[in-house]
Amino acid sequence: MRRPIMIRAAVKGEWALDYNQALEKLAVYDQTHLLKYYGELDDGRQKELLEQIDGTDFSVVKNLNHRESGTERGKITPIVSMEIDEIEKKRSRFEDLGLSAIQKQKVGAVLLAGGMGTRLGSDEPKGVYNIGLTKDLYIFECLINNLLDVVKKADAWVPLFIMTSDKNHERTTEFFKEHDFFGYRKDMVWFFKQEMAPAVDFEGKVFLETKSKISTSPNGNGGWFVSLARNGLVDKIHEIGIEWLNIFAVDNVLQKIADPVFIGASIDSAVEVGAKVVRKAAPDEKVGVMCLEDGRPSIVEYYELTEQMKEERNEKGEYAYNFGVILNYLFSVSALERIMSRKLCLHIVEKKINCLDENGNEIKPQEPNGYKFEQLVLDMIHELESCLPFEVVREKEFAPIKNATGVDSVETARELLKKNGMVL
Ligand code: UTP
Repeated sequence: MRRPIMIRAAVKGEWALDYNQALEKLAVYDQTHLLKYYGELDDGRQKELLEQIDGTDFSVVKNLNHRESGTERGKITPIVSMEIDEIEKKRSRFEDLGLSAIQKQKVGAVLLAGGMGTRLGSDEPKGVYNIGLTKDLYIFECLINNLLDVVKKADAWVPLFIMTSDKNHERTTEFFKEHDFFGYRKDMVWFFKQEMAPAVDFEGKVFLETKSKISTSPNGNGGWFVSLARNGLVDKIHEIGIEWLNIFAVDNVLQKIADPVFIGASIDSAVEVGAKVVRKAAPDEKVGVMCLEDGRPSIVEYYELTEQMKEERNEKGEYAYNFGVILNYLFSVSALERIMSRKLCLHIVEKKINCLDENGNEIKPQEPNGYKFEQLVLDMIHELESCLPFEVVREKEFAPIKNATGVDSVETARELLKKNGMVL
């Protein structure tokens, strides 16, 4: 008779699977090679490996089989965005609404900092990168400064939740402590870890990072609310009375966080999510664009836009798919709770993954050598009933740091910061 496969998560120091149970669990997913070096390991490292096998959900690797089929999309049509001229006319009313929500502690901010930032090429968490020229100016510091502008204006603190992963949690939390939270109130900051997923080679075999460690990577930014809940922080959100969560990426050093005007506009429009968007630089710019999909809010990737859609015009004579998202959203907490048990689709992304070579030596590849599995925030949008795309001026609010040089890099972000009057 087959023994049941243990799926309880391993808690450090408690039981894990024994060798045979681990072998049996791995056999189901064709991953028994992960025990190849088991015999060479000392007791402690054997236990570590068994615990990791116990705690890892290997079912995601089955998604590789569906890679070719892609996800079926519904009917894509344009969505109406709130553009700058309208925002300017209503600015003071929106701002008052937003400031009042902040003062009543109805708004929290969530920094998504669990990513690996591999394109930047630093082994450190992206937020500890120093972009200063004549003085130290860390990415985390820039973001906290941006949030402090609002704190000062509202004369109220915005609860801040920071998502990290197993890969960068310790360094991130230590860094904030070393820098005294860059002047932010410590008791207004909560760190939480996101989940991890195994990484595979192009044939679907999970990598070993060392002889006793499976190669895992953060499972994308789409699981942030589930991770908040798993870490007990949704209770905290209720305790404080937070009704809106502004999530934002670690890499946009120019963005406004908990922007009262954006908050006010979203509340006033009674939507389930507000999305900051920028006007596309060209019809074929490589950004995800806000749209409707089967009548519900959604984001269409640049490579999914047909030539006809790229050229389509609205009644104003402007491009119909003209506003790209910048990973700055304001979600209603009650809407998030309604959708949190829904499964988001898994994206399979080619990445450089540290692994062992055929001789068991640890290597850091220079080129993508396999796939990671990620859930993405943008798929949450389609689960919601309504969305307000809210236009912001690109040069004032969008300076992403993805690469060390070239497009969306430290260099381009520095230029934009300088243009906005920052001394570097
Ligand atoms: P990116 O798409 O830039 O991914 O993340 P990344 O992993 O950080 O960078 P590359 O592709 O390896 O260079 C956009 C935002 O989502 C966060 C990132 O930290 C960033 O703020 N993110 C991404 C997470 O919080 N968790 C993840 O698993 C992935």
